[in-house]
Amino acid sequence: MTILVTGGAGFIGSNFVLDWLAASDEDVVNLDKLTYAGNVHNLADLASDPRHIFVQGDIGDAGLVAALLKAHSPRAVLNFAAESHVDRSILGPLEFIQTNIVGTFHLLEQVRAYWGGIDAQAQAGFRFLHVSTDEVYGSLASRDPAFTETHRYEPNSPYSASKAASDHLVRAYHHTYGLPVLTTNCSNNYGPLHFPEKLIPLMIVNAQAGKPLPVYGDGQQIRDWLYVKDHCSAIRTVLQGGRLGETYNIGGWNEKPNLHIVHTVCDLLDELKPRADGQSYRSQIAYVTDRPGHDRRYAIDARKIEQELGWKPAETFETGIRKTVQWYLDHPQWVAQVQSGAYREWVATQYAQT
Ligand code: NAD
Ligand code: TYD
Repeated sequence: MTILVTGGAGFIGSNFVLDWLAASDEDVVNLDKLTYAGNVHNLADLASDPRHIFVQGDIGDAGLVAALLKAHSPRAVLNFAAESHVDRSILGPLEFIQTNIVGTFHLLEQVRAYWGGIDAQAQAGFRFLHVSTDEVYGSLASRDPAFTETHRYEPNSPYSASKAASDHLVRAYHHTYGLPVLTTNCSNNYGPLHFPEKLIPLMIVNAQAGKPLPVYGDGQQIRDWLYVKDHCSAIRTVLQGGRLGETYNIGGWNEKPNLHIVHTVCDLLDELKPRADGQSYRSQIAYVTDRPGHDRRYAIDARKIEQELGWKPAETFETGIRKTVQWYLDHPQWVAQVQSGAYREWVATQYAQT
């Protein structure tokens, strides 16, 4: 048996592929465009593993997707591929529309054609799992209850609007064509292999480089943090037992203001790798202009996945953030490589023939 993963060289996708192949013998076809956020080095441990088939390409390339589906006959497609950074979506929304909406549409079309052509037993077992975000629900006021699966969609950024549109397309392909879909909406992830443009890895990397730690606005915006490996286990759980056409919210009940996150990272670094001058890394915090349209609070009500499918996160925020800071301290070469322009040249050369 085989699964097709899209975006499997990104942060969550590569963690998912690594965890999947550590726990199962099922082959993974990994389709990733290798944008700035995709990194084949994330998958270096699989370099000689024949169960992992990496293909550089776009989910919007109908011919390529059709050929992969025909060649590998996957029993499931898991769609992680996306443009994922809110700040980039504010500076340039087009790529977000192109990949998250148009790309997902083309992927759905090819999967629908493939699914329509397989035998009844394979059709019944097939799943299309769409990985989405809690940001589609918009922003909560401080006393509002956490997002349930029936919360109204109110996306506020070009990123969240494009993800919301993709969720609607996935839903429509189930209701209109009967495609066996599952959708997951997860809160903010953190952990190993996280590209240092997002809050937690940026703070870890900047702190060590002696650079400012930029906190947007008053730093009191709240996110609900989940260790990436727990997100991966939730996706495996939904793939295995989720009811067709359903949405599952994924979160670890870990609401924290941004400033608390930054303080925690600084305190862990003070303990694990103290500054030479004896000062705390907190002294590097710099308040900067707020993000336009900045959502104030996200929070996930995870009762559906917990009660229906028995999923629970393995990490608390305290254990997960310690592991994360330690991982970055242990992998300075990974950080240096993702930050270097040479990385992109290497990819262009490496994949020039394929
Ligand atoms: P990421 O930006 O780290 O990785 C995205 C991956 O998709 C990259 O490897 C990139 O090369 C690939 N990609 C982009 N466009 C592509 C295309 N057109 N065709 C094929 N591949 C393409 O993102 P991430 O943080 O790993 O997020 C993965 C998914 O999870 C996204 O759909 C995101 O919306 C969702 N999500 C992320 C979070 C989070 O906190 N990071 C939380 C909830 C949901
Ligand atoms: P981010 O990691 O970009 O995730 P998202 O915007 O998808 O939630 O940002 C998390 C929070 O941290 C968000 O409220 C914006 C804030 N933030 C900063 O204060 N400074 C930064 O440099 C970054 C990247 C984010």
